[in-house]
Amino acid sequence: MKSLLAVILLAPTALAQGPVEIRIDAAAPRISVSPNLYGIFFEEINHSGEGGIYAEMVLNRDFEIGNLPQGARWAGNLLRTKDDWQERKWFGNALHGWKLTAEGGAHGSLKLETENPLNANNPHSMRVTVKHAGTRAGVVNSGFFGMNLVAGETYELSFYLRTENREHLNIKAQLESASGHEVYASATVTDAGGEWRRYQCTLRPTLSDPNGRLTLLIDRPQTLWLDVVSLFPHATYRNRPNGLRQDLVEALAQMRPAFLRFPGGAVVGGLNLDNRFQWRNSIGDIAARKGTMNLWGYYSTNGLGFHEYLQLAEDLGANALYVCNPGFSDNYRHAEFAKPEDVPAFVQEALDAIEYAVGPVSSKWGAERAKNGHAAPFRLRYVEIGNEATGKAYLENYKVFFEAIHARYPDLILVSNLRQAEPRAPLIDDHMYGSPEKFFAEHARYDRADRSGPQVYIGEYASNSGVGEGNLMAALSEAVYMIGLERNSDVVKMASYAPLFFNVNDIAWPVNLIGFDSSRVVLRSSYHVQKLFAVNRPDEVLRTTLNPAPRGDAGSVYALAGFHKGTGDVVLKAVNASGLARAVNVELAGLRVLPQQARVITLAHADAAAENTIDEPVLIVPAESRAQITGPQFSYTLPPYSVTVMRLSPR
Ligand code: AHR
Repeated sequence: MKSLLAVILLAPTALAQGPVEIRIDAAAPRISVSPNLYGIFFEEINHSGEGGIYAEMVLNRDFEIGNLPQGARWAGNLLRTKDDWQERKWFGNALHGWKLTAEGGAHGSLKLETENPLNANNPHSMRVTVKHAGTRAGVVNSGFFGMNLVAGETYELSFYLRTENREHLNIKAQLESASGHEVYASATVTDAGGEWRRYQCTLRPTLSDPNGRLTLLIDRPQTLWLDVVSLFPHATYRNRPNGLRQDLVEALAQMRPAFLRFPGGAVVGGLNLDNRFQWRNSIGDIAARKGTMNLWGYYSTNGLGFHEYLQLAEDLGANALYVCNPGFSDNYRHAEFAKPEDVPAFVQEALDAIEYAVGPVSSKWGAERAKNGHAAPFRLRYVEIGNEATGKAYLENYKVFFEAIHARYPDLILVSNLRQAEPRAPLIDDHMYGSPEKFFAEHARYDRADRSGPQVYIGEYASNSGVGEGNLMAALSEAVYMIGLERNSDVVKMASYAPLFFNVNDIAWPVNLIGFDSSRVVLRSSYHVQKLFAVNRPDEVLRTTLNPAPRGDAGSVYALAGFHKGTGDVVLKAVNASGLARAVNVELAGLRVLPQQARVITLAHADAAAENTIDEPVLIVPAESRAQITGPQFSYTLPPYSVTVMRLSPR
């Protein structure tokens, strides 16, 4: 590039090498970018749902935490499935989360009860015996690593209770500090006892405490049974009952996801078939849902279930992508295969799920959806047959699933796990995990894709090896990979990072996108990259050539330009993953209207190993600046360890 007509910024950092020439040719053939390119993938892992986005505050509300998958047994403190797969320690104590409080001479006990259950899906309850009430007797639940109580907010408590005879009941519900010494809110429920009945009251704490607890106090010697003890903040996302945590859904909404893939992931298969995600167990009254021991080491009540996933997609303005079980459990955990004669039942399970999501209210499952408060069809647009499923069984079962679903729902876009699966699905789900080196090296992977093959959905990807718990280098390498996805928009139609969430108190998967505890949220630098790419997704890719061309390592500069039709902006994304500033000379060719202004958003930090953490959540955040452009050529300096998005605007 001979003359630079505008210099919009020069960072003071010493430059390592000569400038990289970036030529953007707007007159060359353009490639349309899929409007569905950037979405999210939600799986119940790391307490992402239970003890996470699902706003239920009571841990083990239904006393079913001790249920093991069919045929599984304890081996020491490990769980062993009937197919001899061994999982990390699960909760051994079925009353996990609950304890007795007894002060001032009080005396009592707690016991798991199987007699006279609330319903068949909920076979256990907790028997509470108070022999002497003393000054204080009752039960305590501290939630999932502490309950977040916010002064002035309303909390809705409900519980089922029975007594053997009709006898006076006086239950005082309190929201308290972790020690119980401070009481922030209390309400009393009185009744004459008897058979199972649902009780409810509201509590409004006077003080905030992110580590609070719930206590139910009993004022006299008594034996009673409790089940489905539930506490929700009234202020859930969009104030939905049985709703979701506002701050966490807000973080998702800001990513502007085009689609939501759910419910997994490995949970689609489960440890064995009994342990797979069974959508029918996850709808309707929460007291009658059947929970699932999760292969990520904890129990899910399925309170966040099929209906709530579809509702979340709708609330986010996203299309739903449901992953159905393909007739066998998770491939990587000694899969259990359905007998050939049982496969149709699994196909029916998928068809019923689809009918629940989009069937008319005159259909069996469409009517059920309406009964659950949503008469209109949900935005289910994709169905994926299996997750990371492989082998002969997959190829055989896939065909049956594909044909049955396609015949009944021809407009649904089906996704397959294997390229060789027949009939060919419109989309194939590729997963990609590994080190930053792998992500740099794979930056051109889809440049080489077979254009006559299926289009691609990257259902799961993350730079997650050798990157701490999710550092800036991971994010930079993902940005490079995403440039490669966007550049190949004729083949790559959708992509979603994985996993999405982690509760900082119990992490099953090493690197994840959004962390939280009871009251705080941390957005990893990878989150900022996801958001930057989604919010700045162009409608068309412009031919972008770099000299020198990137070599697939951290030392190269990577860049891609696109065109945004609504604003007329040229959107330039560039990554410098090296520790030294890199100059770039940009030439804009073939544009009818030249940009006048640049909005520059930069995600950078001097240390590539730096991470946002729950205690230091804003170490690496995007910074924004503006500049004038006076011609079709300009120079810029990419800071060390940076992702830069330039919106070059004609106005
Ligand atoms: O994202 C975590 C896990 O990685 C998913 O459950 C599985 O599909 C993949 O192996």
